[in-house]
This record gives sequence, structure tokens and C-alpha cells, in this order.
Amino acid sequence: MSDGTTTPGRKRIFSGMQPSGEAHLGNYLGALKRWVDMQDEYDCIWCIVDDHAITSGLAPKELPGNVFDLAVSFLAVGLDPERAIIFVQSDVHEHTELAWLLNAVTPKGDLERMTQYKEKAQRFESVPAGILNYPILQAADILIYKADAVPVGEDQRQHLELTRDIARKFNAAYGDTFPEPEALIGDAGKILGLDGDAKMSKSVGNTVRLLAEPDEIWERVRTAVTDPQRVRRTDPGRPEVCNVYSLHKFFADEATVADVAAQCRAATRGCVDCKKILADNIATTFAPFRERAAHFRAHPDEVRRTLDEGARKARAIAAETMAEVRRKMGLRWRDGLG
Ligand code: TRP
Repeated sequence: MSDGTTTPGRKRIFSGMQPSGEAHLGNYLGALKRWVDMQDEYDCIWCIVDDHAITSGLAPKELPGNVFDLAVSFLAVGLDPERAIIFVQSDVHEHTELAWLLNAVTPKGDLERMTQYKEKAQRFESVPAGILNYPILQAADILIYKADAVPVGEDQRQHLELTRDIARKFNAAYGDTFPEPEALIGDAGKILGLDGDAKMSKSVGNTVRLLAEPDEIWERVRTAVTDPQRVRRTDPGRPEVCNVYSLHKFFADEATVADVAAQCRAATRGCVDCKKILADNIATTFAPFRERAAHFRAHPDEVRRTLDEGARKARAIAAETMAEVRRKMGLRWRDGLG
């Protein structure tokens, strides 16, 4: 890699995560686990999107700590600053600048049709424009690096479609500039909350902290809902409708998963014992993360330096794209005078 960012013949991918603090089981299964593996195959850019977070009403005093904690989680799971660019969105001002310029080619009606917008807008009496324009900033994040592809969950598919439309419209209006990034939707499927809720999230409290100790992992997993029809220990269960079973698939080998299903159906193992196996496997997987996180917490300067270096590399690419975009949009007026 020349300066750790661009390898000839490799695709570039970008993805972002909102800084809600330490990552949790859902972030890990839905995104981070995959991101770590992708570093072998792609030039990767991983971004903590704090400029996006201002639309979610977080208190300003919470935000810096949340950014830091998410950075620690990134590094703890194995996002690797030697191979990928890891940075914080607000360190690279070009994102918000490009977002403004992309407003010019983004139909307002398309923004209003976004499912996430419609959901979020319901929570406001007077909807902030940032909630509507959120996907433009997301498009800017991706397009400013001319990313070829973006690993995201199913919930972001629509935003990626919009990003492609914005790229296409920009190219048509101002000349070929941006590739249309492909959405790489993971096969993790939907990760339900431990309570069976449609979404696993920290705010709902139906997840497991990435850096939880084994006791805490067990406390959380113990509460997980299972097949509602399996009331008594002697009732046969249905693994295909059990959320605990679907989590086993992420943490156990095939033979164990098969055994879990078989014993559930035959009612030869109760849900508590079954959950114990899951909690143990999660604890084993997460143990090295906890260890690495302890190191980074004890050396916050290392985290800071990593993010500084990431921002420097990101800025180098972003600045180049912005120079091109400004020129194409007629925003370099000194150069344009005859
Ligand atoms: N909107 C994404 C989410 O909530 C986060 C995000 C911001 C993102 N910018 C991005 C994801 C760019 C992928 C690419 O999950």
C-alpha cells in the first residue's frame, strides 16, 4: 500500500458507524466482525460518524467520550490502522462541505421517501432539516473517497440506492466524477434484540456490551427470550423460531449448532443450559477484545494518535476529490475568469 491507503487492483470500501459509545453484540455481529475480515481483501476506510450523530439529539458532553469508546471498540475487535484508514468524521471537514454541494443534485422528494426519515420524523413536532438531509451527508461520506462498495446492513440499502442516484445525477450534471458504490449487504440477517425486539440496541438495553465480563454476558444472555411455546423444560422446542438458537450460529461450530438444535427439539436440554453454552462461547470470543481494550484505555494517547493519523490519510483523499468537485461546479472562480 502506498501510504497505507491505496493498493492497485484492490477495491476501496467505506463504512461508518454512529458513536453511541462502546460497541455491543449487535454492532459486532452486524458490522464489525465483517469489517475485520474485509481488511484482507479491500482497501478499507472506517469512520466514526459524529457529524451524523448531532441529528440524534445526544448531549454535547456525551459525544467526545462516545467517540473515544467506539474507537477503542474498533481497535479492540481488530480494525487495523496498519491496513485501514480509521478516523472520526468531524476531523475531515470536507464531508460536510461535499454534503452541501450534493444538495444541488438531490431531489427533496427522494429524501422524503426514505423509510428511516419517515420513522425518525414521527418523533418530532418540528422536524429538523438535518433529519431529512442525513442521507446526503452519508452519500458525501462515501463519494468523497470514490468508494467502490459499502458494507452495510439491510436497513441502509435505501440510503445506498440514494447515494448511487446522487452520484449518477452529479456525473450527469457536472461530468463523470463519482463511481456508483455497490452495497455489500451482509448475510448475518436481522439480529433481534435479546428481548425479541426487532432491533438490538444499546438504548433499548437488549444487547450485550462488547467488553462485558463473562458474568455480565451470562446475566444478559440469561434474560434472552426463546421459543415462546416451550414453556416447560419437557416441552420440545423449535430452534428455527428461537433467537438464542440464531445467536448460537454465530459463535459455535457446525457440530455444536446441530447438537443445540437436536437437543432442543428432543427436549433433552433446557433453555437455561442452552443459554449457558451460548454465553460461554460469546465470552470466549470477546475475551481478546476485552484484553486489547484494556490496553487502549490505559494508553489513550495511542488511540488519539491512531485517529489523527487516520484523519490525515482520509483528508489527503478527500481534499483531492473536493478540488475536483469545486472545479467542476465552478467554485474556483479565480481559475475560471477568462
Ligand atoms: N447511517 C449509517 C447507520 O446509521 C451510518 C453511516 C453514516 C454510514 N455514513 C455512512 C454507513 C456511510 C455507511 C456509509 O448505520
